[in-house]
Amino acid sequence: MTTHLHVKTATASYDFVIGSGLFSEAGHRLPELGVQKDAHIFIVTDDTVNQLGYAEQIRQAVREAGYDCTLASVPPGDGSKSLEMAEELYLEMLDAGVRRSGVVIAVGGGVVGDLAGFVAATYQRGVRFIQAPTTLLAHDSSIGGKVGVNLKRGKNLVGAFHQPLAVWMDVDALKSLPKREWRGGMAEVIKHGMIGDKALFERLEKSPALDVPDSSQVETLIARAASVKIRIVEQDERESNLRMVLNLGHTVGHAVEQVSHYELNHGEAVAIGIRVETEIAHEKRLVTAEERRRIIRILERHGLPVKPPAFSLESIIETLNYDKKHTGKSWTFVLPNAIGGVKIVHDVTYEDVKRAWEIAQKET
Ligand SMILES: NC(=O)c1ccc[n+]([C@@H]2O[C@H](COP(=O)([O-])OP(=O)(O)OC[C@H]3O[C@@H](n4cnc5c(N)ncnc54)[C@H](O)[C@@H]3O)[C@@H](O)[C@H]2O)c1
Ligand SMILES: [Zn+2]
Repeated sequence: MTTHLHVKTATASYDFVIGSGLFSEAGHRLPELGVQKDAHIFIVTDDTVNQLGYAEQIRQAVREAGYDCTLASVPPGDGSKSLEMAEELYLEMLDAGVRRSGVVIAVGGGVVGDLAGFVAATYQRGVRFIQAPTTLLAHDSSIGGKVGVNLKRGKNLVGAFHQPLAVWMDVDALKSLPKREWRGGMAEVIKHGMIGDKALFERLEKSPALDVPDSSQVETLIARAASVKIRIVEQDERESNLRMVLNLGHTVGHAVEQVSHYELNHGEAVAIGIRVETEIAHEKRLVTAEERRRIIRILERHGLPVKPPAFSLESIIETLNYDKKHTGKSWTFVLPNAIGGVKIVHDVTYEDVKRAWEIAQKET
């Protein structure tokens, strides 16, 4: 079975394809996307994914179809989402002779997608690119065209909007995903349920997806979660308003991720972010005591952390100050509003965050 979800934004129209065996079909999928045989295909992956053979699978398929293809691999981890790494890739592309007709294919998790997408958005003022996500979390990051790199002062501070030609989510690749990475991805799936799919949230409450399920189940799960994101980016491609709702859990989550020096993975940091932001919402009576309990429980049942680590609140606040959502005396937060909805709140104060942080550290 293969699921095609269509994404249509103000500037682009592409398919998010989920299914088994997609990577080995890359050779005939490219011409369908209008990629001519003289286009140089530049694959970006990370060393772990490379060793697992997924990038090679695409390279072989693409070469057999008659394309020139070069593969570049970066060290795994958020440390590779940097301007320095982008420059290395530009140089490799120049060496390989990639011209403006070239196509970048990102084969990996959100790190590779964000980095390779940024390189594609900027190399010779922009070349086409395809997302081939290999983590559950990347069902989220591969849709919507947000690409970018980190600066030492914060995550995703340099970037662009660059929509892919297509997203190929080959569920076979998820089978090698370590449990911890699967669960990190579940944080974004739960987030999508909280934002716009109450039935998905309720289903996961009843039967948590603790590890990679079989192919058809994983396809359905991803399709459900991805549909929430697609619906939102279609209405607001450039995050002028509505798209902000996707940042649920991320205002605190990004700060936690950064202060942990990336020892927590993105999904784990987002889970802690959702928890703290739920406490703020509870204090502001946007969620009831029962809804608060359900949110904490669903995260816990998926093996995700719900207590902030023992960082000082000040280090988190300092990071929030650099965050682009900071508007002066208070912050703009996306907070849960019952289950299946969110509310953008513009006046979250230092005291609000402090109280929520302390409650989250003490109570479960
Ligand atoms: N652009 C967006 O809209 C957006 C949205 C959410 C997250 N993000 C970004 O995504 C990044 C996190 O993505 P991630 O969690 O996928 O991290 P990741 O890309 O670092 O992948 C996690 C780990 O899993 C390994 N891996 C990947 N695929 C594998 C597979 N199939 N089998 C075994 N191991 C595999 C990787 O080598 C890595 O070590 C963060 O940088 C975050 O900022 C971006
Ligand atoms: Zn995220």
